[in-house]
Amino acid sequence: MRVLVTGGAGFIGSHVVDVLVSAGAQVAVLDDLSTGRFENLNPGANFYRGSIEGAELVELIERERPAVVFHQAAQVDVQRSLREPLADVKTNISGTLNLLEVCRRFGVKKVVYASSAAVYGNPSYLPVDEKHPVEPLSCYGISKYVPELYLETYRHLYGLNYTVLRYANVYGPRQDVQGEGGVVAVFTWKLLRGESPCIFGDGEQTRDFIYVKDVAAANLAAIDGGNGMVLNISTGAPVSVNTLFAGLKEITGSPLGAVYGPPRPGDITHSYLSAERAGAAVGWSPRYSLAEGLRETVAHYAEKSSMPPCGAGRG
Ligand SMILES: NC(=O)c1ccc[n+]([C@@H]2O[C@H](COP(=O)([O-])OP(=O)(O)OC[C@H]3O[C@@H](n4cnc5c(N)ncnc54)[C@H](O)[C@@H]3O)[C@@H](O)[C@H]2O)c1
Repeated sequence: MRVLVTGGAGFIGSHVVDVLVSAGAQVAVLDDLSTGRFENLNPGANFYRGSIEGAELVELIERERPAVVFHQAAQVDVQRSLREPLADVKTNISGTLNLLEVCRRFGVKKVVYASSAAVYGNPSYLPVDEKHPVEPLSCYGISKYVPELYLETYRHLYGLNYTVLRYANVYGPRQDVQGEGGVVAVFTWKLLRGESPCIFGDGEQTRDFIYVKDVAAANLAAIDGGNGMVLNISTGAPVSVNTLFAGLKEITGSPLGAVYGPPRPGDITHSYLSAERAGAAVGWSPRYSLAEGLRETVAHYAEKSSMPPCGAGRG
């Protein structure tokens, strides 16, 4: 099967590429390397450097003729979405629409879209399921949601199939170690470098941390199932930031404690997502325990810890 992964040099996209290559797919990658890295790229994939917003997309899809597109490319920095909302719209909404237009023109069968728990905003009940109201708290949350509406409309109008995967907090190897989003990467990197990480608030706030290899497996599972559906990709279990820190401290063997800072305004206190629908629709459920995922993540960063961090801070 021929497939395209947009953002395939990024953190999650590169893992999606890895599982697809292992499954025997012919994989093309489109990435502008704005936050992605060449070193993340699987050598078994055909790499095109370019933007989902540009005309190069037409050439690529005409040449590669993918049956399925895994759309991971995005402007992922929540703070930047507030500072530069139009730039955020340009990539996440206009860029996705550009992609859908080219997909329908060249007969792509299906788009698997990387959406986000950010579309839900502050949970009004827990665990958050897919029927939860969409009430984004940031421009990023809006720009990740609007393409879901286009996907549904393109399915009705043109028969372009889709599955929307709303990821919880994804962590694992290759995540950027800077920025406010990847708390596992940031904590791990700091502990390995002998620095105390900062926990905002009392650390009892909870999140749903899903290992990146489980997310990649969910993308693979969505090739054949979940048509026209929105699926949460999550563990369904809340983990406090303190618990996460304790786990990382144990695995890294660090004697350091965390430094506690004031809570960040607007931070959500508790959030975790039900993944029951994904189980029923595509037979997916997470395979990795938090301890296993953290161990693999620490091993990855331990190998890299002698190298300087690079990449822009983002959420
Ligand atoms: N990391 C998380 O916890 C998380 C949670 C929910 C949803 N998501 C979504 O998952 C996807 C991947 O996120 P990530 O965390 O791997 O971030 P990432 O920044 O590592 O990956 C995004 C990739 O897209 C590329 N890209 C950006 N703009 C592009 C453009 N215009 N054209 C082509 N390529 C472009 C970047 O170079 C990068 O390789 C995004 O759609 C994001 O919204 C991530």
